[in-house]
Amino acid sequence: MSASPVLSMETLASLCKRRGFIFQSSEIYGGLNGFWDYGPLGCELKRNVREAWWRDMVLHREDVVGLDCSIIMHPRVWEASGHIGGFADPMADCRQCKKRFRADQLCEEQGLKLIKTEKGFALPEGTQCTACGSKELTEPRAFNLMFKTFVGPVEDESSVAYLRPETAQGIFAQFANVLATSRQKVPFGIAQIGKAFRNEINPRNYTFRSREFEQMELEFFVKPGTDQQWHDYWVEERMKWYHSIGLPKASITKYVYPKEELAHYASACVDVMYAFPFGVQELEGIAARGDFDLSRHQQFSNKSMEYFDPDTQEKFIPHVVEPSAGVDRITLALLCNAYREEWLPQGDKGGAVLLAEPGKQAPEGYEARTVMRFAPRIAPIKVAVFPLLKNKPELVQKTRDLFTLLRRHWNCFYDQAGAIGRRYRRQDEIGTPFGVTVDFQTLTDDTVTLRDRDTMQQVRLPIGKLLDEINTRIEAGMPE
Ligand code: GAP
Repeated sequence: MSASPVLSMETLASLCKRRGFIFQSSEIYGGLNGFWDYGPLGCELKRNVREAWWRDMVLHREDVVGLDCSIIMHPRVWEASGHIGGFADPMADCRQCKKRFRADQLCEEQGLKLIKTEKGFALPEGTQCTACGSKELTEPRAFNLMFKTFVGPVEDESSVAYLRPETAQGIFAQFANVLATSRQKVPFGIAQIGKAFRNEINPRNYTFRSREFEQMELEFFVKPGTDQQWHDYWVEERMKWYHSIGLPKASITKYVYPKEELAHYASACVDVMYAFPFGVQELEGIAARGDFDLSRHQQFSNKSMEYFDPDTQEKFIPHVVEPSAGVDRITLALLCNAYREEWLPQGDKGGAVLLAEPGKQAPEGYEARTVMRFAPRIAPIKVAVFPLLKNKPELVQKTRDLFTLLRRHWNCFYDQAGAIGRRYRRQDEIGTPFGVTVDFQTLTDDTVTLRDRDTMQQVRLPIGKLLDEINTRIEAGMPE
């Protein structure tokens, strides 16, 4: 099969809306730029991403524990972390049409590079407004990305607080409490999944850059001097994880930061990149941040962040390696990767499947299908259960019983409406990997057919073997 034609984000967004993966937030009021809602299938997909991460990063490891911090924290947290002083993007306005841009992105789009000056930033000669073409743009100025709010009934400077722009700082602020209560020893990690908020100047590329999103962050605390070794370890672990959720090796790359691009306290940083239809972009950053965060919190709170090593009798502030991923970006990558339009031999009889050619009709004897090839592990619905006919009560009863049995294990869907082929197509389009059909033979010998979404092959097997067979197939994952 040849390579897929490039997917347009409009096509993906249209499927996501039609089938209940992603909706525009507050759509009935015209939407709100940079905010998205996940529908019945989208929230299952996202939940599976979170669960896969939590299982692999926390539950399956003895050296990582979980944490769930509040979204609004003491404002001193953000002073210590440097977010109040420095968490800003350069912003420029068009004087003609009043459109506002992130200055670095505006330059990039025109093959230019934003100039760093002593005071801040300057636009290079020839930068234009991409909306109206005017060259009359304001000088870039720093725009802090944190959402401000007030705590309590009085709205003044003393009650200002912020919605967290990352989950990481909650982990650093609670480091001592977790250490005291979890009986962990360095090296060990603290993991957190939760919402983060950034008032992005230019939210774009569908859910890729949003103003409200979810992060999955691990702060892995290590002995000073072992940073590099742990950084290498986590980069490899994380690359493997992306393959385990169904992103093919060829679509995932690493961007290794050169020294001059690293923050002053960091000794290494690697971004995990995915080839989106709109370009190769970051899914996750894995940074070796030294003792910067814990030292700053020690300094600002006057509380010790030191660790006493019982084996060596040494005292030190642990260094940290931080794999920090975005749930929404990973979900978007999974949606992009899964989407495929195909032509298949009519009648669901199996046979060679062709990749559909854009804008063309399926050839004679073929029909078109859209299929979401999610890895079974993360598919929103694992098994669809069908009675061959809906007007035969014995068939329907048998299917409902089977449905009740299967849904104790996985998210399943029961469908009796329409021709069986149409029911298969509906499940293909939402990425359900397995279909189980109950027919007349089932009533005599307790066997069913199990259909595979990708090969469309059907096998007949006893109901007693169904759970094991589906489990084995979920574990096996996807071929590369
Ligand atoms: N604690 C480190 C940190 O927050 P980051 O690179 O700013 O690092 C980590 O964010 C991850 O969070 C990114 O790799 C991305 O997946 C996700 N992320 C960041 N900003 C985002 C946004 N505006 N919309 C969606 N996801 C975002």
